[in-house]
Amino acid sequence: MKFLCDSNTLVDNGSRGFVVEGRPLLAVRREGRVYVYQNRCPHRGIALEWQPDQFLDPSASLIQCATHGALFLIESGECVAGPCAGQSLLAIPCTEDARGIWLAS
Ligand code: FES
Repeated sequence: MKFLCDSNTLVDNGSRGFVVEGRPLLAVRREGRVYVYQNRCPHRGIALEWQPDQFLDPSASLIQCATHGALFLIESGECVAGPCAGQSLLAIPCTEDARGIWLAS
């Protein structure tokens, strides 16, 4: 397992960007659960955010690509609106314990 961050640095309804061993990733916490995805929009293959650590839409209920506005479900990474509707972000398995948030691989 690879350490990602301390639990208290990812607040509920918040998001953060990371680069782990050269891999751009994003993490979102929702209703206490942590979700990690590759930070790569399936539309153009580019990073999702324009502002550091800003991956959510204004309601903080969906992941949003800043370039053309694609919207993704936080829980599954599926694109539900935008130019890549039906495609998905690549989910990265993760776990959380008393020491923090960990990538499974
Ligand atoms: S690059 Fe993400 S919606 Fe176009």
